[in-house]
Amino acid sequence: MIQVKNLKKSFKDFQAVKGISFDVTKGEIFGFLGPNGAGKSTTINMLCTMLSSSGGEIIINDFDVIKQKDEVRKSIGIIFQENTLDEKLTAKENLMLHCKFYKVPKKLREERIQEVLEIVDLVDKKQILVEKFSGGMKRRLEIARGLLHYPKVLFLDEPTVGLDPQTRAHIWEYILKLKEKEGITMFLTTHYLDEAEISDRIAIMDHGEIIAIDTPNQLKAQVGGDIIEITTKDNTIALKEIEEKVECLEVSVKDKIIRLKVANSDEFISDFIKKLDTPITSLNIRKPTLNDVFLTFTGRDIREEEASKADQFKQQMKRMS
Ligand SMILES: Nc1ncnc2c1ncn2[C@@H]1O[C@H](COP(=O)(O)OP(=O)(O)OP(=O)(O)O)[C@@H](O)[C@H]1O
Ligand SMILES: [Mg+2]
Repeated sequence: MIQVKNLKKSFKDFQAVKGISFDVTKGEIFGFLGPNGAGKSTTINMLCTMLSSSGGEIIINDFDVIKQKDEVRKSIGIIFQENTLDEKLTAKENLMLHCKFYKVPKKLREERIQEVLEIVDLVDKKQILVEKFSGGMKRRLEIARGLLHYPKVLFLDEPTVGLDPQTRAHIWEYILKLKEKEGITMFLTTHYLDEAEISDRIAIMDHGEIIAIDTPNQLKAQVGGDIIEITTKDNTIALKEIEEKVECLEVSVKDKIIRLKVANSDEFISDFIKKLDTPITSLNIRKPTLNDVFLTFTGRDIREEEASKADQFKQQMKRMS
C-alpha cells in the first residue's frame, strides 16, 4: 500500500530525513517511533503530499506522490499532530466542510457524517461548538473527519499527544476498531512506547534514519535477553562484585539503578542474589521493552519520562478490557 525508496528531506543544509526506505502492506498498522526531532512528522508530511521531498520515491495506493498528487490525496486521510478543527463551528459543520473539500457527493454527506460520528461515539455531540469540546473529543472528531471520504490509508501523527491515559486508551480502542472493521492501512507516528506496541510493525527512527524495522516482538527479541534492575546499599561495591563474580551479557548504571542484561533471568536470579554480599534494596526483573531496543541501538533512552507513563497506560487498558 505504501512504498518508500531512499526518501530524503533537507531544510537548507540540515538533513532531517536521510534516505529512508520501507514498505507498508495493506491493512497493516505501521508505527514510526522515535524521539523529538527524529524526523517522524517530516516523513509523514512528505507521504501525505503536504511537504515536498528532496529526493527519493513514494508510492501510495499505486500512485506516485509527486506525479499523481490528487489521486494520492483521495486515497488518504490525515490526522495531524496539531489540532486543525475550526473551533467556531460545530462538530457537524466541521465534517460538512471536509465533505465539500473532498467532494463527497451531496446525497451521501449526511449518511457519511452519521457513520463516522458513530465510530467515534460523538453522535449526540454533533451540534456542539468544537471550542466546547475536551481534548479527547477533539481528537476523536479529527479521526472521524479523517475517515469521511473512505481513505485507503490513514495517517496519524501523534494521535494522542497531550491526552490523559484514559482518553489515550479510548482513542486506541477506536483506532483498533477501525483496523478490524474497515481494514484501513494505518501509518502512525508516536514517541509513546506503549502506543508503538499496538503497531503490527515498527520503524524506529533516530536523527533522520531508520535504525531498526520489525514487529514489536522481533525488535525486543533483538535485545537478546531479560533485563534485571537493582538498587543496592552501595553501588560501587556492588558493581565490583558483579564484575568479579557474576556472568551476564551487559551491565550499566543509570540514576543509581544497576541494569543487567542476562540471557535467562529465571536461571540467573537465585544464584545472583546469593553471590552478591552488598545488600540489594530493590529488584525488578522484566522482559525487554521498546525503550531497551532503542537503548541497544543508540545507547540512549528514547524519552525517559514516557517510560513511567507507559505503565499507567497499560493498567488503564487492562481495566477497560
Ligand atoms: N520547516 C522546517 N525548517 C527547518 N527545520 C525543520 C522544519 N521542520 C522540521 N525541521 C527539523 O527537522 C527535524 C525533524 O523534525 P520533525 O518535526 O520531523 O521531528 P519529529 O520526529 O516529528 O519530532 P516530534 O516527536 O517532536 O514531533 C527537527 O530537527 C526539526 O527541527
Ligand atoms: Mg512530530
